[in-house]
Amino acid sequence: MLSCIQPTGEVHLGNYLGALRTWVGGQHENDVFHGIVDLHALTVTETPGVLGDNTLSLAAMLFAVGLDPDVATIFVQSHIAAHSQLAWIMECTVSYGELSRMTQFKDKAAKREADFVSAGLFTYPALQAADILLYDAQEVPVGDDQRQHIEITRDIAVRFNHRFGDTFVLPKAVTPKAGARVMDLQNPENKMSTSASGDGGIVYLLDEPTVIERKFKRAVTDSGSEVVYDRTAKPGVANLLDILAAATNTTPEKAAESFTQYGALKSATGAAVVEMLSPIRKRVLELMNDRAELARLIRRGDERAEAVASATLARAHRAIGVLPR
Ligand code: TRP
Repeated sequence: MLSCIQPTGEVHLGNYLGALRTWVGGQHENDVFHGIVDLHALTVTETPGVLGDNTLSLAAMLFAVGLDPDVATIFVQSHIAAHSQLAWIMECTVSYGELSRMTQFKDKAAKREADFVSAGLFTYPALQAADILLYDAQEVPVGDDQRQHIEITRDIAVRFNHRFGDTFVLPKAVTPKAGARVMDLQNPENKMSTSASGDGGIVYLLDEPTVIERKFKRAVTDSGSEVVYDRTAKPGVANLLDILAAATNTTPEKAAESFTQYGALKSATGAAVVEMLSPIRKRVLELMNDRAELARLIRRGDERAEAVASATLARAHRAIGVLPR
């Protein structure tokens, strides 16, 4: 099983409760690989130095939330040369027409308007196909926005296997184990996401406790004053209840029973989130202050990933019949 995450921007509560926490729960159920896909982030990151820093802090975060380097394989995409090497072969196995039909490319290219639209943004799915096929991944848990990329990976694998003989395992998109759906605190109709306008509605995992408490105190609630769990009628209150329930391992309906006022709910949710995040924050800061240890943990995942990836690349080279060196 393979999941990858781009090192763009800070990890927030939506990422944690929606995905990362379920990764931690799932690490003992499958042989899991988690790639930090910095080469994918390069399609939109141009400032020198940023990519490496983001990669390092994301790695620290993945270990801090509880992914065990002895159990889950956490690796950095750019550290494993086979990703770039197989990506070229994937580019030669996918057609221009297929890549042109990718909705994510069309959206991203349109959003960047006058900005630089790299060829990498266009060939991005070929690199993603390499990520997936290198690890013989059978299941790739992804959100709806990524399903098309898994389908194209499957099409590429089928075509390659047909041309050169059975080489790649055909992957399948699976729906990730549902985590909590966390909405923006200022705009509870929208998912918590860094593409939102302001920071006030987004709780970052590394926010200081006082900042987290303040964000919850200022959370937008709904008209009326009764604390009930109703996502349609009371999206703001429902979001707080969902978060509180996720942080304290209960259900939102149960959580609602303890409150008669919005104010008390906001403070309690803020406090519960601070408590949930404080060990994570502590561990991230520890790792960021012990770069040697962090590098050692990353290297361990890189080495395991490398062993699998290089064997698959060699298999692809043999199937094609490139001249052995
Ligand atoms: N494209 C994915 C995203 O934007 C990230 C990604 C890159 C990925 N390689 C992958 C996801 C391989 C799953 C498998 O979220």
